[in-house]
Amino acid sequence: MRVAIIGATGYTGGELLRLLAKHEKIEDIEIASRTYKGEPLFKVHPHLREIYKDLTFISPDEVDSDLVFTATPHGASLKIVPSLLERGMKVIDLSGDYRFENLEVYEKYYKVKHPGLPEANIAYGLPELFRKEIKKADLVANPGCFPTGSILLLAPLVKHNLIEERVIIDAKTGVSGAGANPSEVTHFPNVNEDIKPYKVVDHRHKPEIEEKLNKLGKVRVSFTPHLAPITRGILTTAHTFLKENLELEEILKLYREFYKDESFIRVYEEIPKLSYVRGSNYCDIGGFAIDDNLRLVLFSVIDNLVKGASGQAIQNMNIMMGFDEKEGLNIIPLNP
Ligand SMILES: NC(=O)c1ccc[n+]([C@@H]2O[C@H](COP(=O)([O-])OP(=O)(O)OC[C@H]3O[C@@H](n4cnc5c(N)ncnc54)[C@H](OP(=O)(O)O)[C@@H]3O)[C@@H](O)[C@H]2O)c1
Repeated sequence: MRVAIIGATGYTGGELLRLLAKHEKIEDIEIASRTYKGEPLFKVHPHLREIYKDLTFISPDEVDSDLVFTATPHGASLKIVPSLLERGMKVIDLSGDYRFENLEVYEKYYKVKHPGLPEANIAYGLPELFRKEIKKADLVANPGCFPTGSILLLAPLVKHNLIEERVIIDAKTGVSGAGANPSEVTHFPNVNEDIKPYKVVDHRHKPEIEEKLNKLGKVRVSFTPHLAPITRGILTTAHTFLKENLELEEILKLYREFYKDESFIRVYEEIPKLSYVRGSNYCDIGGFAIDDNLRLVLFSVIDNLVKGASGQAIQNMNIMMGFDEKEGLNIIPLNP
């Protein structure tokens, strides 16, 4: 199979290349960039030197593959994706441009006019919840990194109607979530030895989490992200209130049952750590605790560049193409 990556110079593009190098079904890869056209891959991704010896960046409009990953910013994908679909290519878009059913919500949070959804089978690419739709899709909207950790963390509780309507999600992310372009926010002295809350009530991922969880049950989401002095990873803490008293064992059993057939979800009693999943496609869920106000607190961890982006995109490709869902993703996490 031949795949292309548009935005291949970025962090998620680089991570796609790292993972695709071990994918048995990939025969050929095209890498596209506006700024590095004609340059060899190692100029941008020196860690992949020798792995892709002869790969050179082409222009995004030269791409001609069976499936294209658009690892591009929101707004840019809106301009690129429709013509790829018209030319018969399948697309997995890593931006927020095709994640919403309600385009008014998209326009409000992304401040971009949406031209409307293309005539194609579009699926939200969270395999654990929407595998059937992904299988039939021509265009998969790969979920945001925070939504991946948050939705997987809360789905069993919402689906089984066990919690009150309001939930509070508090998430800490590594700096690679902001992409490869340096900025004042990501400048080392501004991040190091500090933790910074940002977009405390109006982050773009809040309505995405809410729209998708509401497919399972009624829930209102309050979400606050924090930037932490780490490179990769998202730790998500959810505060929920149980409708009735439940034993922790019952909740743990429910989670184990809900995810029993999922290769990339691991449920356990301990509080999960970022280093348990770093570099891998796992989402670990654990640390369940209940206080005397019936607050159930629980945690998930993912690597934002793998299960939160490129690993999940490859999982989606595997489902769309009928490959083994784990192909290319048998990665052992890097701890410490
Ligand atoms: N970083 C994460 O953890 C993460 C997680 C989930 C989802 N995402 C989403 O995935 C997408 C890529 O993220 P990233 O972190 O890889 O970003 P990035 O490091 O900034 O890379 C994006 C790449 O897109 C290309 N690009 C920028 N503007 C473009 C345009 N107008 N047209 C065509 N190409 C353009 C650039 O490459 P050239 O200049 O070489 O063309 C750039 O290297 C974003 O939508 C992001 O929100 C990121």
